[in-house]
Amino acid sequence: MALHPEHPLLQRIVDDLASHGWSRQSIFLPPDLTAELAAECRLRHARGELERAGIGRGDSPLIREGVRGDHIAWLEPDDAHPGVQRYLHLMDTLREAFNRTLFLGLEDYESHFALYPPGAFYARHLDRFRDDDRRMVSLVLYLNDAWLPEQGGELRLYLDEQRQQDVLPLGGSLVCFLSGQLPHEVLPATRERLSLTGWFRRRGDNPLQA
Ligand code: OGA
Ligand code: MN
Repeated sequence: MALHPEHPLLQRIVDDLASHGWSRQSIFLPPDLTAELAAECRLRHARGELERAGIGRGDSPLIREGVRGDHIAWLEPDDAHPGVQRYLHLMDTLREAFNRTLFLGLEDYESHFALYPPGAFYARHLDRFRDDDRRMVSLVLYLNDAWLPEQGGELRLYLDEQRQQDVLPLGGSLVCFLSGQLPHEVLPATRERLSLTGWFRRRGDNPLQA
């Protein structure tokens, strides 16, 4: 699955983002890789490696029950799991596709597994922090097998004042959008909801910032 940055699938995503600020691809990850990553997410959770997600960055991000209820585990670039490596490589190729066409100067990718227990949600927000505006593109890859509409768990994108778009977290599908521009929220589901969420970041302007 070594895609080239000029692969039509990746180009479609870049074109969507350039023309309307978001993209959804129902078939992005091959089913074997989706299943492998879902199993790895569950395994890390069972080993106690996922933590309650905080709000904001820093050493002691605030945990506020009313804002987000997911559990996350950040990925390191040298993660030893072969499926995680395939995923990181694919995202790197997509990052290159963005840079070639849109000259966004995207420098790196940060990502984490996320697990929402039944009933958990993430209230409306933007994916930028007051102290870090390097995030340019948000990307969410869903790892859920046979998700049904009545199970909820939609990602709700607020496209503008009038329009919103709900997206079901279907396994193997990808949603991405401009981090600084699209407010969004995660609605509660009746079952566990798994994803890999990440951000392409540009270079920091502040030399004192990491
Ligand atoms: C996030 C987020 C969306 C989703 O983690 O910031 O908005 O559908 N996730 O999981
Ligand atoms: Mn978000």
